[in-house]
Amino acid sequence: MSEFVISGTGLFTPPETLSNRELVEAFNCYVDQFNQDNDEAIKRGDIEALEKSSEAFIEKASGIKSRYCMNKSGIIDPKRMKPYLKERTDEEHSLQCEMSIHAAKEAITRAQITPDNIGMVIVACSNLQRAYPAVAIEVQQALGIHKAFAFDMNVACSSATFAIQMAYGAIASGSVDHCLIVNPEICTAHLNFKSRDCHFIFGDACTAMIVQKKEAHQTLDNAFKILDVKALTQYSSNIRNNFGFLNNADEEGFGLPNKLFYQHGRKVFKEVVPMVSKHILEHLKANKIDNQQVKRFWLHQANDSMNLLISKKVLEREPQEHETPIILDEYANTSSAGSIIAFHKYNQDLKKGDLGVICAFGAGYSVGSVILEKI
Ligand SMILES: CC(C)(COP(=O)(O)OP(=O)(O)OC[C@H]1O[C@@H](n2cnc3c(N)ncnc32)[C@H](O)[C@@H]1OP(=O)(O)O)[C@@H](O)C(=O)NCCC(=O)NCCS
Repeated sequence: MSEFVISGTGLFTPPETLSNRELVEAFNCYVDQFNQDNDEAIKRGDIEALEKSSEAFIEKASGIKSRYCMNKSGIIDPKRMKPYLKERTDEEHSLQCEMSIHAAKEAITRAQITPDNIGMVIVACSNLQRAYPAVAIEVQQALGIHKAFAFDMNVACSSATFAIQMAYGAIASGSVDHCLIVNPEICTAHLNFKSRDCHFIFGDACTAMIVQKKEAHQTLDNAFKILDVKALTQYSSNIRNNFGFLNNADEEGFGLPNKLFYQHGRKVFKEVVPMVSKHILEHLKANKIDNQQVKRFWLHQANDSMNLLISKKVLEREPQEHETPIILDEYANTSSAGSIIAFHKYNQDLKKGDLGVICAFGAGYSVGSVILEKI
C-alpha cells in the first residue's frame, strides 16, 4: 500500500544578517530625530514622544537575537526604515520566485525526483508580492515543471502546514503523486520598523518541501511518513494586516500603519498557547498516540517562551532542548517558513519509527499540525 511522505526539504537563507544591536541603533536614531523634529508639538501635548527600544527587552521578551533579510541598508537607515526591494520588470523573475527556486531545487534534490515528477506546486506564505499571475505558476515555469498545476495560498504563519493538508488531500484523492510546496517569506517588507512594539519581530527566509506518494518498493533517504494532518481556524483580529486592493479606493490609500503587520502580542500569547497545546493533544489522541511517544516538536518560531509553554503543556513536563528546537534566535519570526526551517535543520538524527509533530500557528487564528513518522 502506498504511503504519503515528506521526502525532501530545502531552505534559502538570505545573505544579509541584521542583529538586535543594529536594529535598535537605527530605531533609536529614528526616535531621537522624530522627538527633536516634533519638540514643540510634544511639549504642547499634541503628540506623544516616542520611546526608545532596547536589545535586552527584545531578547528577553521574544528570544530573538538576529534575523536574515533581503536588504539591510534600507532598514537600518533611520531616514527610511524599510528595505530597498525594487520592483522587477515583468520579464524578470520576481523576488519571491527567485527565493523559491533556491529552496525548491534543494528539496527536489533531497527527494531524488525530477521536476517532471511534480504534479502540483503550491506557494504558501503570508504575503504575496502581487495579486496575479500566481507566483506558484511562475515558480513552476522557472523550474521546468511541465505537467502540473500551480496556485498560491495564504493562511499567514500556518500557510506551510495548511499546504501540507492540501497536498495530502490531492495525493490521497489520486489527482497527483508529487507536490512541491514553497514558502517564500519576505516578512521585513510587511514590518513596521518605526513601531517599537514590533520592529524586531520578523526576518526573511524561504523553505520548500516535496510531499509525495511512496510506493511499497521505493526506498527514500531521510523521509517522513505523514500519519495525519489537522488544520483549525478561529477568527481573531489580534494579528492583522489590512493591506489589500481596496486600499486604492480609499482616500487614505496605502499610507496608514495598519497596511503593515500589527498585533496585540500579549493577547496573542495568552490565547494562542492554550489553543495550540489543546490542538496538538487532541490531534495525538485522535491518532491514538501517547504524548510521551513524540520525540520532536517542530513548532512555529515566533517566541521562545511561547514554544516552551506549549511544549510543557503538551508533554506535561519540562521539555529538553532537543525536543523542541529553536531557530528564531537566529532567524527571528519567518512566518510560515519558521516551523519548516526547524524541521529542515533538526530531523536527521531521528531514527526509523520515531514520531514528530510540525505545528504552525498564527494570524486567523490558525493552527496546522502534521504528525510524522521517520521511515
Ligand atoms: C510581541 C512580544 C514579544 C511582546 O512581549 P510582551 O512581553 O508581551 O511585551 P509588551 O508589549 O506587553 O510590553 C511590555 C513592556 O515593554 C515595553 N516595550 C515594548 N516594546 C519594547 C521595546 N522594543 N523595547 C523596550 N521596551 C519595550 C512596553 O512598553 C511595556 O512597558 P510597560 O510594562 O511599562 O507598559 C510578545 O507579546 C509575543 O511574542 N507575543 C506573541 C506574538 C505572536 O506569536 N504573534 C504571532 C505573530 S505571527
